[in-house]
Amino acid sequence: MFRLSILLMLAYALVTPATASKRDWSGSAACGACHPAQLAAWQATPHARTRARFPTAPPKACLACHGTGEAPAGPVIAVEVGCEACHGAGAAYGEDDLMRDRPLALALGLTDLSTPKARAAVCAGCHARPIGAKPFDATAPVHPVNP
Ligand code: HEC
Ligand code: HEC
Ligand code: HEC
Ligand code: HEC
Repeated sequence: MFRLSILLMLAYALVTPATASKRDWSGSAACGACHPAQLAAWQATPHARTRARFPTAPPKACLACHGTGEAPAGPVIAVEVGCEACHGAGAAYGEDDLMRDRPLALALGLTDLSTPKARAAVCAGCHARPIGAKPFDATAPVHPVNP
């Protein structure tokens, strides 16, 4: 029984095409190399510290919201609500010349957050309930940068 199930899992893994790969993601440190102010501001928020909630490696079900990547179905890149959890997997658009061309960056996977509706939709993917007693505010700053 035991061996049969291992064989079935192996066969499944061999025939199932990868829908997404870790190579699609660059990670918050790579984004922060060009956006140091946003990186520093984000690091001071609970989004950057979700790992601290879990005494051991958290289940994939939790990482759908407490992580960055495609949990529970696909790869998990980091146990944090990283840049790409809101801005989209960035390996394709995270280049200087591409990012200066907004329509091109959007076509390569940058998420549009420019309207209140688009922004609220991204937050709603994880924030379905209020935070404590306060109603959830999708306009709350997530990495405030001083001018
Ligand atoms: C090699 C440098 C570089 C890297 C790496 C990079 N960016 Fe950028 N990014 C830029 C430049 C340049 C701009 C355009 C700035 C401007 O026009 O003022 C930009 C613009 C942006 C914008 C604003 C887009 C808009 O038009 O509203 C966002 C959001 C952004 N980057 C997020 C990210 C994220 C998330 C990552 C990591 C996946 C990333 N960037 C990686 C250089 C980079
Ligand atoms: C649908 C998205 C989502 C999933 C799935 C999810 N969380 Fe959360 N979790 C959140 C959000 C958003 C917050 C912060 C806002 C709040 O407190 O409601 C949070 C806060 C927390 C907190 C701190 C606040 C508190 O209520 O104590 C803990 C601990 C936590 N989650 C554990 C877990 C664990 C363990 C799992 C997996 C079994 C999990 N979460 C799955 C979205 C999620
Ligand atoms: C919780 C979601 C979220 C996370 C996490 C996040 N951002 Fe953002 N980011 C936004 C929103 C929303 C905007 C505002 C978009 C707008 O108004 O056009 C924004 C705007 C930006 C901009 C445009 C300039 C600015 O400051 O408004 C850059 C650059 C950027 N983010 C980079 C990053 C980087 C780098 C990280 C990771 C270190 C990151 N973001 C993490 C949601 C997020
Ligand atoms: C990938 C899932 C995800 C997305 C997308 C997301 N969040 Fe969160 N957010 C979380 C989790 C998980 C926490 C709890 C982190 C912790 O405390 O461990 C959290 C915490 C917060 C907190 C701090 C709550 C407190 O303790 O006071 C704020 C504010 C917040 N999010 C705002 C936003 C906004 C605004 C957006 C959209 C622009 C957004 N989030 C998008 C998952 C997400």
